[in-house]
Amino acid sequence: MADIDIETIGEQIPLLEGIRTTRAIRRLLPDPVPRELIRKVCEAGSLAPSGGNRQPWRFIAVTDAARRKWVADRYRPAFREYIAAGQKAARDPAFPESSRRMQRAALHLADHLHEAPVLLFVAGWTRRGQPQLQALMPAVQNILLACRAVGLGASLTTLHRSFGEECDRWLELPENCPTCALIPIGWPRGRYGRPPRKSVDECLSWETFQNAPDS
Ligand SMILES: Cc1cc2nc3c(=O)[nH]c(=O)nc-3n(C[C@H](O)[C@H](O)[C@H](O)COP(=O)(O)O)c2cc1C
Repeated sequence: MADIDIETIGEQIPLLEGIRTTRAIRRLLPDPVPRELIRKVCEAGSLAPSGGNRQPWRFIAVTDAARRKWVADRYRPAFREYIAAGQKAARDPAFPESSRRMQRAALHLADHLHEAPVLLFVAGWTRRGQPQLQALMPAVQNILLACRAVGLGASLTTLHRSFGEECDRWLELPENCPTCALIPIGWPRGRYGRPPRKSVDECLSWETFQNAPDS
């Protein structure tokens, strides 16, 4: 990945193809990612819509190995505690295989978080004392899509909030600018592909929530 052209990388993929093939990539190579590429995906984040166009987001990219370890050392036990009940449920043969795969991948991420070359935190200014999650998540999704476009692996995580206040202080964020998401980013070990989702026909109805004839 030595000869990346930051200007052109990711500019060719059709938008809907990128959306259809963006999924959580949690197995990452430890190889470094150029800062300019992180800047490029954050630029996509900074183009997201927000209420009143207030653009409350701040992006903090943690790349220093000791600092990534600091995060990973806290995320790992928190995640293991969080997933324990789900792992127990997964012993049931009737447990869906796709959920089992997701558990394994999420556990892999938790156990290897320190290896992800970039831990990108998304923080945002509060409004009337409230975190503005609804304003930050479009920026997060733009970043995930931009990662997909340029060939980086990424996933949305929020589990760091279980040690969120400590983490925000550690990042030297002002009190009224908490983090809402942690996006581990790196070159993917696996491949992109269509994620397992319900058919749109299970989610879409016309005129009211109840079945409405579509003709
Ligand atoms: C609000 C939110 C919080 C999430 N938090 C975590 C998390 O803490 N750790 C994690 O591994 N994945 C987390 N995820 C990722 C989901 O597990 C993932 O989107 C889901 O499994 C679908 O994955 P797929 O796109 O690969 O099918 C989160 C997703 C969302 C939308």
